[in-house]
Amino acid sequence: MNTYCKAAIRNQKELMTGIWKMELEAPEIAHSARPGQFIQMYPPDERNLLARPISLAAIHGESVEVVYRVVGKGTEQFSRLRDNDMVQLMGPLGNGFTLPEAGERSVIIGGGLGIPPLLELSKRIPGEAEVFLGYADAPFMDGDFRGHGRKVHVASQTGNGGFRGTVLELVEAIAPFADRVYACGPRQMLQAVAEWAERQGIPAQVSMEERMACGIGACLGCAVKIQKPGEKDWQYLRVCRDGPVFSGREVVWNG
Ligand SMILES: Cc1cc2nc3c(=O)[nH]c(=O)nc-3n(C[C@H](O)[C@H](O)[C@H](O)COP(=O)(O)OP(=O)(O)OC[C@H]3O[C@@H](n4cnc5c(N)ncnc54)[C@H](O)[C@@H]3O)c2cc1C
Ligand code: FES
Repeated sequence: MNTYCKAAIRNQKELMTGIWKMELEAPEIAHSARPGQFIQMYPPDERNLLARPISLAAIHGESVEVVYRVVGKGTEQFSRLRDNDMVQLMGPLGNGFTLPEAGERSVIIGGGLGIPPLLELSKRIPGEAEVFLGYADAPFMDGDFRGHGRKVHVASQTGNGGFRGTVLELVEAIAPFADRVYACGPRQMLQAVAEWAERQGIPAQVSMEERMACGIGACLGCAVKIQKPGEKDWQYLRVCRDGPVFSGREVVWNG
């Protein structure tokens, strides 16, 4: 069940230019949230009627953490909030990731602002998981993944922090063995990951992003084309309600 509540901000800080992290004291959301779910955050200026969807990067006992990039009015207003300010939230929303079975090996692949939603997943995967993170330039949050014992590989377009190239080029170079693939990032990256996983015969769960309005399945503003196995035609499913996590092989990437 999702909750509509006001949450106090704790530990708001800029991780690097334009990328912020904040903790939100929201016990009802924290108690029921799963990795891969998101919240709708309402900008404090009420002229911005629409909430902004932001993924849960970490789930603690009584609070959740989000990491966001300032791209427009809403996220700019979030970045001006300070500790103890209150923000209106709705959540947790969406389906979240399905964890692997005991003994399965996982590969986690994130790109840019698709990296934060994978952190809680990486913590909760019970077995072995190798993490591949792709950046435009300087890495961020790679230390958080290492902090709970994961082997982390970093790729960036500039070579800053490790391998120079795309995260998928790095995955292909290392060729990790996996039973499950989890990915979040830009659509083009997700498509490349889904196609790679398909070639390896590994099921992939991809977390999709679309522009959203209502966030609760009522407006169809966030539809993506999905074709279920054995079905002749594709159908539109809603990222906010039916996703954001979909099977990589079911997304109609070129539709
Ligand atoms: C399920 C989901 C989870 C998300 N999780 C995160 C997260 O953890 N961290 C994070 O930084 N961002 C995340 N986003 C994207 C975030 O919601 C948008 O960046 C934010 O709503 C922009 O609001 P704004 O008012 O600052 O920008 P606006 O003024 O609304 O837009 C500024 C620019 O950003 C683009 N934009 C806005 N929304 C989106 C979107 N959903 N996808 C792609 N481009 C968009 C616009 O086209 C425009 O170019 C997520 C989006 C979805 C759908
Ligand atoms: S945002 Fe309205 S249906 Fe998804």
